[in-house]
Amino acid sequence: MIIANWKCNGSTEMYKTWSVDFSNELLHKKDTYLGIAPPSIYFGDIKSYLTCIPFIGVQDVDYLDGPRTGAISVDMLIDMDCNFSIVGHSERRQLFNEDNELIKKKIESLNNKIMTVLCIGETMVESQKGSTKNILEEQLGIIKGLELNESFTVAYEPVWAIGSGLTPEPNDINEIHKYIKDVVQSYSANNHIPGVLYGGSVTDINAESFFKKQYVDGALVGGASLKGASFAKIVNIFNGMKQ
Ligand code: 13P
Repeated sequence: MIIANWKCNGSTEMYKTWSVDFSNELLHKKDTYLGIAPPSIYFGDIKSYLTCIPFIGVQDVDYLDGPRTGAISVDMLIDMDCNFSIVGHSERRQLFNEDNELIKKKIESLNNKIMTVLCIGETMVESQKGSTKNILEEQLGIIKGLELNESFTVAYEPVWAIGSGLTPEPNDINEIHKYIKDVVQSYSANNHIPGVLYGGSVTDINAESFFKKQYVDGALVGGASLKGASFAKIVNIFNGMKQ
């Protein structure tokens, strides 16, 4: 599974060029889960225009509808045939003060309706203190007792790796992904073992080193997904290595 998170980037012109560059570079056509989360305002246009990408999702959602200015609800995602929603991205946590309680409500409202990609990750200070696993366990605490849909996915995105060009060692990522799978399995009511994506400075240069690892089920790509050709290269690498 490879998902592009375009964050607050893009324009009509950009995604048209993107589509040509992506299609020119894409080698294998496999049934890999391939998705893009564009800014929501482009959702409908991109869904009908980017036919080379089978799944289009959103970067965030609200857990209720009604008088909540600026929000987009789960019912609206269903209405628009949205394929997935990212929740809990560290930029939402840091810039918009989203906490675990709020993210929990979002997961509960998405569960069994729209595929959920929950982002978790530690800061540099937490990593240096050796508390990565404690932080991830706390962030995953919100799914305790939930009967998770089989599509429920986690993205491990160390905050310090996002947009920095820094990444953890692939072996460390592998160990953390195994840990995430174990924690979700033990916390969820139905012992769900999630797919776990790695996110944080993934490029077409380093992607292979991550995809080689057993517990890395794919990537959530930010900056490198903004160019169609580099995103296609990452997809090509994945398709050449994983089922
Ligand atoms: P970068 O790939 O730009 O580091 O962003 C990762 C990310 O935040 C994806 O959600």
